[in-house]
Amino acid sequence: MANSGYTLRPLVIADYDAVFALWLRSDGMGLGDGDSREGIAKFLERNPGLSRIAEADGKIVGAVLCGHDGRRGYLHHLAVDKPFQKRGIGRALIEACLAELRAEQIPRCSIFVYADNHAGRAFWTNSGWITRDDIVIIQKVFAQESAS
Ligand SMILES: CC(C)(COP(=O)(O)OP(=O)(O)OC[C@H]1O[C@@H](n2cnc3c(N)ncnc32)[C@H](O)[C@@H]1OP(=O)(O)O)[C@@H](O)C(=O)NCCC(=O)NCCS
Repeated sequence: MANSGYTLRPLVIADYDAVFALWLRSDGMGLGDGDSREGIAKFLERNPGLSRIAEADGKIVGAVLCGHDGRRGYLHHLAVDKPFQKRGIGRALIEACLAELRAEQIPRCSIFVYADNHAGRAFWTNSGWITRDDIVIIQKVFAQESAS
């Protein structure tokens, strides 16, 4: 998909090093053991062709993970490199993922954002996403983190 100054394409595991470096230098990103190369490879295998990267000036400047469980879609780790922000890349990455989810008859998509990531939250609400105040995340870690 071509745009003014950047292109989008599916994220593949060969992109891992560049994408992980982008996540590391992005504000508000919560990275865990599930974001190891093996973890991301597993995610991409389970959700083929859904995640996206943006490239500009010959390098990866944006990325997002996208998957679904057959009922609901989920986006994770949306990030756009600071010098490339506010050019529509974040929104384009989301729209590309939502088109893929729509094609798989998944009508609803959720994200997890740190409550104190005010800039990130403003981006999502500005993009028409609704914060659900009636739901909390309840979680149990039942195996060693590296297996998550
Ligand atoms: C959030 C992020 C991905 C946005 O990427 P981006 O490419 O700059 O976003 P876009 O240019 O597509 O912006 C889309 C719209 O959101 C608005 N927007 C972007 N960042 C915003 C912010 N921090 N606060 C409020 N609005 C914002 C843009 O102005 C634009 O609105 P418009 O269409 O009315 O002009 C980027 O700022 C980022 O990587 N942040 C750090 C990581 C993060 O917080 N990720 C989200 C949580 S998982």
